[in-house]
Amino acid sequence: MNDHRIRDVLPLASGGSTRLSDSIGRRFEYLRLSLTEVCNFRCTYCLPEGYKKPCNLPNELSVEEVRRAVTAFAQLGLWKVRLTGGEPTLRRDFEDVVRTVSQVPGIHKVAMTTNGYRLAQRAKAWRDCGVSAINISVDSLDPARFSAITGHDRLAEVMRGIDAAEAAGFESIKLNAVLMRGVNDDELETMVEFVAARDLSLRFIEVMRTNDNASFFDERHVAGQSVIDRLEAVGWQRLPREVGAGPAVEFGHPEAKGRIGIIAPYSKDFCASCNRLRLSSDGKLHLCLFGDGGFDLRPLLAEDSETDLAERIRTLVGAKAPAHRLHEGNSGATPHLASIGG
Ligand code: 5AD
Ligand code: SF4
Repeated sequence: MNDHRIRDVLPLASGGSTRLSDSIGRRFEYLRLSLTEVCNFRCTYCLPEGYKKPCNLPNELSVEEVRRAVTAFAQLGLWKVRLTGGEPTLRRDFEDVVRTVSQVPGIHKVAMTTNGYRLAQRAKAWRDCGVSAINISVDSLDPARFSAITGHDRLAEVMRGIDAAEAAGFESIKLNAVLMRGVNDDELETMVEFVAARDLSLRFIEVMRTNDNASFFDERHVAGQSVIDRLEAVGWQRLPREVGAGPAVEFGHPEAKGRIGIIAPYSKDFCASCNRLRLSSDGKLHLCLFGDGGFDLRPLLAEDSETDLAERIRTLVGAKAPAHRLHEGNSGATPHLASIGG
């Protein structure tokens, strides 16, 4: 271990910086918190056969455990939390979780990711209890394709949900689209037109390889660079990186209201801008989407055990690997993204 690394994993020295960073100086400001791995959709790239109940029931963090965990991350300087899953809104106490997380001192932004199935009814309620930014998965604007991708004929509902989200006044609304060769890659231009006319952002996400979807990945993966080429061909321009921005590459167009982001984990240097940590719904800290498994923080989430929590997180983060090993064909131990939060 070099000196630099030792400094980062040492407990907080008095007068030292409280901000969380790793051995190559990446700063972590953003926690992706999975609330459940259960999902009611069956997206072909994620849970093609739907969520299957494991023998032992998923042991989700309670609202109180979530509060303790988020408090520790906030003490380490993280200020943004994204609630994700699975489908986070399947939790009956979802709105309690939102209120609790948004009241943790130091947390300035609560975002969520949803498949949109209850958005039309609940957008306003989620906004009112503290969600300021929302990402909605919309992989196709064609009802039959949407149904084939997600297993649910619910595009019309999700579209009504997007209208409701706009009416509810979220600070940011993003649509997530995973582009798949021969499935929806011919919709890029239609999707771009859709967001050009509205104050929304669109994120094209490369299919990511996980343990469960290797052959799907081989058949369907579309490289982010080809998407960039198609956008540039119709006048979209790369925007300067904002300070503290994550790995998405952003594009704008002089005549478009919305923006477009590309998330391309297979591109060069993707990991250099990593600014996020992940906590799974059962309390495991994942340093990388494509890592070898999580570190169990649950024993430290019980009442009276929280004091060690922030220091344990700091130590673990200090040892985060500089980059994933996707290029060596190693996609880590993650079975599907629903298991640790997409
Ligand atoms: N590849 C890319 N994105 C994925 N998601 C889930 N699984 C994958 C995968 N294998 C993302 C999608 C979805 C969000 C909830 O998680 O973007 O919109
Ligand atoms: Fe559910 Fe999201 Fe996975 Fe689709 S991508 S199956 S909505 S967790």
